[in-house]
Order: sequence, then C-alpha cells, then structure tokens
Amino acid sequence: MKKRPRTLLTLLVPIIVVWIISAFFITQDINAQGEILSINTEASCITSSCHAGMGKKKYVHAVGVDGKQCIRCHEILNQGEHSFKKIPPVTFPICSKCHSEEFTTPADIKGSPPKVIFEDKEMKFHAPFAEGKCTECHDPHESNFYKHLKADYTEEYYAPYSSGTYSLCLKCHKGLEKALTEPRILTDTKFRNGNLNLHFRHVNRPKGRTCKTCHHHHGSKTKAPRLIRDAFPFGKRSLMINFEKTETGGSCAPACHATVQYDRYEPVETNMKTTPREGIDATPEELRLNRIEEEQVIKGEGEKK
Ligand code: HEC
Ligand code: HEC
Ligand code: HEC
Ligand code: HEC
Ligand code: HEC
Repeated sequence: MKKRPRTLLTLLVPIIVVWIISAFFITQDINAQGEILSINTEASCITSSCHAGMGKKKYVHAVGVDGKQCIRCHEILNQGEHSFKKIPPVTFPICSKCHSEEFTTPADIKGSPPKVIFEDKEMKFHAPFAEGKCTECHDPHESNFYKHLKADYTEEYYAPYSSGTYSLCLKCHKGLEKALTEPRILTDTKFRNGNLNLHFRHVNRPKGRTCKTCHHHHGSKTKAPRLIRDAFPFGKRSLMINFEKTETGGSCAPACHATVQYDRYEPVETNMKTTPREGIDATPEELRLNRIEEEQVIKGEGEKK
C-alpha cells in the first residue's frame, strides 16, 4: 500500500464541504396542481412518457442512460417522491465512486469503468480537473463526442484545422482562438518564437498536430509545466517530448526533430527543414528590451458565464 493520506485529504476536504453545502439546494418536481410527483423507485426511470429521449446519442455512458441506475448519482430525498438532491458542479465525489482506484466499483455495474488518477504528488493537474469539475468537460449521461465529452475535441493525433475542432478547450481558453488562426502574434500565447506563433504552426495546417499530441487534458505525469505530456504515440512507437521550460521560452527534443528551442524575446534560429513560414520575423525592439509578458491574456478563464 502506498502512503498518501495527506494529499488525499487536502483534495477531499474542500470538495466535501462544497458538496454538503450544495446538498441543501434540492430539486423537486411539482405538477400543475402543486403536488409533488410520485415515482416507483423499483421501476425504470425511462418509460415512453418519462425521460424517453435519453440514450439516443452516439456515445452513451451506460450507467447514465439505464433507467434503473439513475439513483446512483441522483439521490432520492423522499422515497416514492420525484425529489432529488441537486448535483453541485463539483461532481468528483460521484464520479470517483466508479472511476477512482481508491474505491471498488459496485459489483452490479456492467462494463469496467476506466480508472483515472485523482491524486498523485508527482503529477500536476489541470485546474478544472483538480477542482473536481468533471462535468465541465464530460456529460454524465450521453454525448455525440467520444469519451462522453461535452464538445468537440478530436480523437486523433493529426487533424486538419477547422474552426470548432477544439471547442471543448476554447470554451474556457478564449484567447487561444486568436492564437490558432494567426501565424504571427505577440499576444494570446506564450508558445512562440519571437512573433512566430508555434501553436498556429503546429495546429493550423492540413496535417495539424492536435492538442493531445502535446498536452494531457487531466494532468501531466512528470509534473512538466503547461500540462505537456512526457510522450505521445507515433505509429507503434511512443516518442518522448522532453519538454523544458525556460523563463522566456522552452525547448523540446522529440524524436521527430532534433532539440529545438523557442524564445519569445530573442528568437532562436533552427536549421530544421520546415514548410515556408508565413509573414515576417519582427519582434519589436521595445518588447525585446523590456521583456513585457502579456500574462493577462493567456490565463484560462475558468468557469463559463
Ligand atoms: C453518473 C451519474 C449520473 C447518472 C447515473 C445519471 N445522472 Fe442525471 N445528472 C447527473 C449530473 C452530474 C447532472 C447535472 C448536469 C451536469 O452537470 O451536466 C445530471 C442532470 C440530470 C437532469 C437535469 C437536466 C440535465 O440534463 O442537466 C436530469 C433530468 C437527469 N439528470 C436525469 C437522469 C436520469 C433519468 C437518469 C437515469 C436514466 C440519470 N439522470 C442518470 C449525473 C447522473
Ligand atoms: C456507477 C458507476 C459509475 C459512475 C458513478 C460514473 N461512471 Fe463513468 N463509467 C462507468 C462505466 C461502467 C464505464 C464503462 C462503460 C461505459 O462507457 O459506459 C464508464 C465510462 C466512463 C468514461 C469513458 C468512456 C469511454 O469511452 O472510454 C467517461 C469519460 C466517464 N465514464 C465519465 C464519468 C464521469 C464524468 C462521472 C461522474 C459524473 C462518471 N463517469 C461516473 C461507470 C460509472
Ligand atoms: C478539461 C476537460 C476535462 C475535465 C475537467 C475532465 N476530463 Fe476526463 N477527459 C477529458 C478528455 C479530453 C478525455 C479523453 C482524451 C482522449 O482519450 O483522447 C478524458 C477522458 C476521461 C476518461 C476516460 C479515460 C480513458 O482511459 O479512456 C475518464 C474516465 C474521465 N475522463 C473521467 C474524468 C473525471 C472523473 C473527471 C473529474 C475529476 C474528469 N474526467 C475531468 C477531459 C476532461
Ligand atoms: C472548464 C474550463 C476549462 C476547460 C474546458 C479547459 N481548461 Fe485548460 N485551464 C483552465 C484553467 C482555469 C487553467 C489555469 C489557468 C491559470 O492558471 O491561469 C487552465 C490551464 C491550462 C493550461 C496551462 C497549464 C499550466 O500549467 O500553466 C493548458 C496547457 C491547458 N489549460 C490546456 C487545455 C486543453 C488542451 C483543454 C481542452 C482539452 C483545456 N485546457 C480545457 C480551464 C479550462
Ligand atoms: C506542438 C505541441 C503543442 C500543441 C500541438 C499544442 N500546444 Fe498548447 N502549448 C504548448 C507549449 C510548449 C506551451 C507552453 C508555452 C510556454 O509557456 O512557453 C503551450 C501552452 C498552452 C496553453 C497556455 C497558454 C499559452 O498559450 O501560452 C494553453 C491554454 C494551451 N497550450 C492549449 C492548447 C490547445 C487547446 C491546443 C490544441 C488546439 C494546443 N495547446 C496545442 C505546446 C503545444
């Protein structure tokens, strides 16, 4: 057994507090006559007249569309009544019951839920994941996007760019939209060599690299900054990225090209053979000398309004 009580506690305590507070805000279904609807909790919640539309999308979370499993997540307040505890945005305590190694999946659950890592002091987690806001990205019932995602996020490692491909990420990272469409930029992303926008260069091309080639959506294992993965699949192999961050840029040494560096103020020359660059190298003298960081524009905007 690994010892990890303290980190688990620091994660769980705030989550449970929020959960308990939110549990006071309950939901009840009241009909036109002002009566609370009654239900038979032994029967299925999906009938021809109740929740009939559920389970029709391309990807279904089996437990989320099974009329007899709804009460796994929707706790009944009064037996026989259609009244449930309202689910707060922090759904981590619910999801962890089946998706955490800490708990054994209930025996009557069909299919095996993939276990995800919730706490590991060697890892650096993505803010919404660390905050337990699973349903910012996943739909608990069903979805038209793979892995029950709430918006588009291509499954592939290579994909041509088109607006909308990454709407899952852009919902919060609004400034990045501009960074994905302009070849030369001095704001909105730190991933640039001088004014050469490296997000644009990797992502916005016919055989673009997708976000997941470089970033891990939940967190990076090696505590690498900016959620950079340690490796990505390349055919049957796995290639190391070896990312290192510096104060004004970074470097990586993946097997697909030799070590390359970027620097936002003193653009680094590479002798890599690459496709022609659009636009011209021009890093304003003022920016170079003063090393102004546009911190404010690259922040994740967190919760949607
Ligand atoms: C895995 C947990 C889980 C299961 C199982 C589940 N739900 Fe939900 N449900 C949620 C969460 C979480 C929300 C809050 C909405 C959100 O965050 O997306 C929700 C919201 C809802 C809502 C409010 C409208 C909406 O979609 O936001 C309805 C109605 C609902 N669920 C019905 C059901 C029914 C009927 C079943 C069984 C067929 C079911 N749920 C099974 C987690 C679950
Ligand atoms: C009662 C157990 C249970 C709970 C609670 C539960 N899940 Fe699952 N989950 C499963 C099972 C079983 C699977 C595998 C079968 C499937 O995809 O339906 C799964 C699969 C998944 C998958 C992966 C699907 C894939 O394509 O590999 C995601 C993502 C997921 N769940 C998210 C969530 C989130 C987010 C929550 C909390 C809102 C949650 N689950 C709560 C049982 C559960
Ligand atoms: C910022 C968005 C985001 C948040 C927040 C998030 N996830 Fe995910 N999750 C993803 C993406 C993207 C994938 C699938 C990536 C892929 O496989 O290409 C995924 C995959 C998964 C899978 C499938 C794992 C597998 O091995 O296939 C599970 C289970 C899951 N998430 C559960 C959770 C739970 C539980 C939470 C909350 C603690 C959570 N996620 C929060 C984006 C998110
Ligand atoms: C629910 C909102 C939300 C969604 C959706 C979201 N993010 Fe984030 N992300 C954040 C927040 C909040 C931060 C922290 C920003 C900060 O510290 O300034 C963050 C930070 C990051 C960082 C920087 C991490 C660091 O160490 O500085 C990267 C990279 C990132 N997100 C990538 C993604 C990718 C890729 C997706 C799509 C799979 C995505 N995000 C979806 C909210 C979100
Ligand atoms: C070729 C690898 C690569 C790809 C592909 C990539 N990124 Fe990044 N990204 C990086 C690196 C490296 C940084 C860190 C820049 C720094 O801080 O020096 C970064 C930084 C970020 C940040 C922090 C804010 C910023 O721009 O400086 C976010 C958010 C982000 N990426 C999201 C995404 C999303 C969303 C996608 C897909 C549309 C994506 N990235 C594709 C390598 C990549």
